[in-house]
Amino acid sequence: MDYSEKGNVSGKTLDMDRARQSLIEELQAIMWYDERADATTDEDLRSVLKHNRDDEKEHASLLLEWLRRQDPKIDEKLKAILFADKKFDELWD
Ligand SMILES: [Fe+2]
Repeated sequence: MDYSEKGNVSGKTLDMDRARQSLIEELQAIMWYDERADATTDEDLRSVLKHNRDDEKEHASLLLEWLRRQDPKIDEKLKAILFADKKFDELWD
């Protein structure tokens, strides 16, 4: 968010921004743990990194669920797409 506009933005929009930014950071953490787990030659460290990475997946999922509960369009899209038994090119309108 461009925080020069913060004075004109509702509290709900600011909270949505906080959640979206946090989701981005959780996904980045997953990526970095994957890269480090791939790179290390120490099996114990690889195990710790993979465990931590999977904790980040829970964090990301919680943020996505919070966003879904706040935004009816996200709720609609997730219900239509997640766990659907369709080909990918059948998932969008
Ligand atoms: Fe996290």
